[in-house]
Amino acid sequence: MLPQGYTIRKLELGDYEPYVETLRVLTTVGDIPLDKFKDVFAHWEKLSDTYMPRVITNENGIVVATGMLLVERKIIHECGSVGHIEDISVAKSEQGKGLGISMIKELSGVAKEVGCYKVILDCSPHNVGFYEKCGYKNDGSEMCLRL
Ligand code: ACO
Repeated sequence: MLPQGYTIRKLELGDYEPYVETLRVLTTVGDIPLDKFKDVFAHWEKLSDTYMPRVITNENGIVVATGMLLVERKIIHECGSVGHIEDISVAKSEQGKGLGISMIKELSGVAKEVGCYKVILDCSPHNVGFYEKCGYKNDGSEMCLRL
């Protein structure tokens, strides 16, 4: 459950600055001018049945956690859909308040609603315990080719 005053909702264009800042907890983000953010946001909006970014805001309405569900439609499993969870990031000062688990529950729930038969994600070994607390199981190895 979210702490009092916190809300989970879809990403909005006005979230630009705190959204980009919150993602810096996760990895290198770089310099993202507003016009580039708008461009990616418009792309996500056009494909809103596929890209589903969510944010958690604090009692001041500021974004403090991010998460994304990407829905992949397949031919296998009778044209089944798989959900991919990406870019989970909780601002340092907001960690340990249950925001991460709330975000994963929300995104997993959206995946179920839109008919996904499973949800998968990649994470570092040090986060395995967190995802186990969210009900996920370690189910293989992540492979990566940096381009
Ligand atoms: N390992 C084991 N357990 C953990 C970890 C961890 N790394 N992090 C949190 N937990 C536990 C908590 O202790 C808590 O347990 P409890 O219910 O018994 O008290 C439970 O998991 C839920 O914790 P939350 O408070 O919801 O976690 P938080 O809001 O701090 O978010 C997160 C966790 C997302 C890993 C956060 O620390 C973070 O943003 N880290 C940096 C970015 C990152 O690594 N993101 C994940 C990338 S993977 C991906 O995007 C698919």
